[in-house]
Amino acid sequence: MAAGKGTRMKSRLPKVLHRLAGRALLQHVVDTAAGLNARRVVVITGHGAAEVEAGVVHPGGGLLQFVRQEPQLGTGHAVQQAVPALPDDGMVVVLSGDVPLTHTDTLRVLIEACGGDKLALLTIAFDDPTGYGRIVRDGAGAVQAIVEHKDACEAQRQIREVYSGIMAAPARLLKPWLGQLNNRNAQGEYYLTDVVKLAVAQGVPVVGHRISDALQVAGVNSPVQLAELERAYQQRVARGLMEQGVRLADPARFDLRGELRCGQDVEIDVNCIFAGEVELGEGVRIGAHCFISNARIAAGAVIHAYTHIEGGISAKDRIEVGAGALIGPYARLRPGARLGDEVHIGNFVEIKASTLARGAKANHLAYIGDSKVGERVNYGAGSITANYDGANKHTTVIEADVHIGSNCVLIAPVTIGAGGTVGGGSTITKDTAPGVLTVARATQVSLSNWKRPEKKK
Ligand code: UD1
Ligand code: CA
Repeated sequence: MAAGKGTRMKSRLPKVLHRLAGRALLQHVVDTAAGLNARRVVVITGHGAAEVEAGVVHPGGGLLQFVRQEPQLGTGHAVQQAVPALPDDGMVVVLSGDVPLTHTDTLRVLIEACGGDKLALLTIAFDDPTGYGRIVRDGAGAVQAIVEHKDACEAQRQIREVYSGIMAAPARLLKPWLGQLNNRNAQGEYYLTDVVKLAVAQGVPVVGHRISDALQVAGVNSPVQLAELERAYQQRVARGLMEQGVRLADPARFDLRGELRCGQDVEIDVNCIFAGEVELGEGVRIGAHCFISNARIAAGAVIHAYTHIEGGISAKDRIEVGAGALIGPYARLRPGARLGDEVHIGNFVEIKASTLARGAKANHLAYIGDSKVGERVNYGAGSITANYDGANKHTTVIEADVHIGSNCVLIAPVTIGAGGTVGGGSTITKDTAPGVLTVARATQVSLSNWKRPEKKK
């Protein structure tokens, strides 16, 4: 269900597209559903339908089915819209697009409890159940009904066990129940929760599967709740990493917006953000305030503080940092940077779509784009590759053991031959031969008979 408005977010963006850990709330739910190997994932949209439909994907590349609910007349009415999309021999699991952190395993247990012939409800007990639908049980403990907070009497409001918003039911039973719902209640809505009474009347067993982990059923209604859930999620991720042996300087100042795999003895200082798929090899150290996305950093590399490593998702945009490399502080690696072992990249150096072979160094204030840099090259401070002529990008090749002096401009396409040296301040427009010194700048002159201008009296 993702048709609701989410008024309390006070945002133009539909609520279910707000991000938690870098992914839309609804995407978390779709990913969880796909994780159950669901035959179909059906998303019910309404408010901002087109935007919502464009904002989620099936993680396995499969098809998402969208059905629209216009207008929004309640959760029962929402699921009614999905009826044509649900095969009769299937099991239906109802999820909310704004409840992002339910574990697939929890849903598996719920489906097992449903067993193909029962109605199974995911429930939880809250100290303050205000606002939730209460689970009403008879003397023997059998579930009789869900009564919405606004419809509940004082005695029912004392019940602490509530409906999480998640249920599993066989489609062949659920469909006729949906057809029998009415909106005669305090909110004038078609309540999905009324199917419980219908099941009981029909003699279909209703099982309540109660969990205690509130995070798994927590919904997002406001920016405050979103931030709270984000932090709770991050603390949990941080704890999991530390349990694997990763040393986080402060688990409260750690953010993962994707997946992070770490070898042994990885150390991560405060305020780092990891996005997409990141792999840190054995003994890698990450300094404070780094941003790292879609990158593989090999064993023993050190990423100093304030470094941005901004790999992209496609294979050509991913970033590789070789074993023992030293990067930063304040370095910027852009999509397609591939650095070999022992490469050194210093402060204010930007590398884009370039390969640097083992032992190459660019330690200060430099730009290397669309380039192939050989082993042991030393690339001087302030030097840049002019890779873009205003229309097309061109390649710079710097062969092994070249020294590029300070403040050089290498105008691509150009090749600097192996072992060559380029004198500081040179603008290089033509290929250079191996082993030679190339200087391309105005010759220095000194005039002794020159006088500074003086102010007229
Ligand atoms: C619902 C349950 C309540 C439960 C609570 C848990 C009903 C009647 N009540 O209440 O028992 O304790 O969730 O959070 O189901 N939606 C639509 N179309 C609609 C109405 C809602 O798609 O017409 C979607 C919303 O966007 C949301 C979800 O359904 O994702 C739940 O709706 P919401 O209004 O939050 O239900 P609650 O009143 O919280
Ligand atoms: Ca809700």
